[in-house]
Amino acid sequence: MDWIKVLDQDELAEGDKHVVEVAGREVVLIRDGDQLYAVNRKCPHMGAHLDKGEVKDGVIVCPRHHSAFDLRTGDVMDWTPWPPGVGRVLGAVSREKALAVYPTRVEDGAIWVGIEQA
Ligand code: FES
Repeated sequence: MDWIKVLDQDELAEGDKHVVEVAGREVVLIRDGDQLYAVNRKCPHMGAHLDKGEVKDGVIVCPRHHSAFDLRTGDVMDWTPWPPGVGRVLGAVSREKALAVYPTRVEDGAIWVGIEQA
């Protein structure tokens, strides 16, 4: 695992999201309560930017078709429910795909993101 320092911890307040580049990937840092998450910026359905998504109780909802993902595991909680009727049809032509998530830690006043070595 390569740990990469991405942001001063003071730059990510409670409820904030912040996009950083980590080893060539766009990653969204999210502070939700006392939890810190790092996830791929692009929704695995059709690539909408998840930094525009809503976060609640450890789940992020994509702003485009409202797929929901567990922020800790990346597991799909709901797949393309929006818009009503049409969203489910859209979702049926693309297989459910988990969101890429990355481990985080806070050290020396900074947020670090872990990336698996290739
Ligand atoms: S782009 Fe995110 S649910 Fe479709």
